[in-house]
Amino acid sequence: SDWLYSDIVQEHFMNPKNVLDVPEDEFSPDGRGLVGNVQCGDQMLVVIKVENDMIIDCRWKTYGCASAIASTSMLSEAVKGMHIKDAYKITPDQIVERLGGLPEHKIHCSVLGDKALRAAIEDYLKRTGREGEIEKQAAKVVCNCLNITEQDIESMVRD
Ligand code: FES
Repeated sequence: SDWLYSDIVQEHFMNPKNVLDVPEDEFSPDGRGLVGNVQCGDQMLVVIKVENDMIIDCRWKTYGCASAIASTSMLSEAVKGMHIKDAYKITPDQIVERLGGLPEHKIHCSVLGDKALRAAIEDYLKRTGREGEIEKQAAKVVCNCLNITEQDIESMVRD
């Protein structure tokens, strides 16, 4: 079809999964990540509940766009029941693939949930005195055709 967005993206946008619909205190997260997207200025909050290093719940809230909503909805489904170390390794392009693609200029939006999730996992480790246990990832390639990494996007904005 001529739609810019795949059916899966539309479905996740219309019926987003795991939105944080209670006050954060009530959810009482074991880890919390709040990040901004330097390219568009949007924000994302991801909170997780963890048991024996397994993510048992993952909720999120964003001021981001439809692509950010769909990506994070998909991501939040994918990481439930996953070990924190495996969840940390998920890349935005894996999520984009599961969504059946995103328009090129929207790829950066898929980075938002991913970044917030990693921040939440890092926060969980910090709270449990295990900071640095997961090796920080090198900058990820977020756009394969242009070979753009998160770091590039950040430095573009800074320059
Ligand atoms: Fe900001 Fe998509 S335009 S997250």
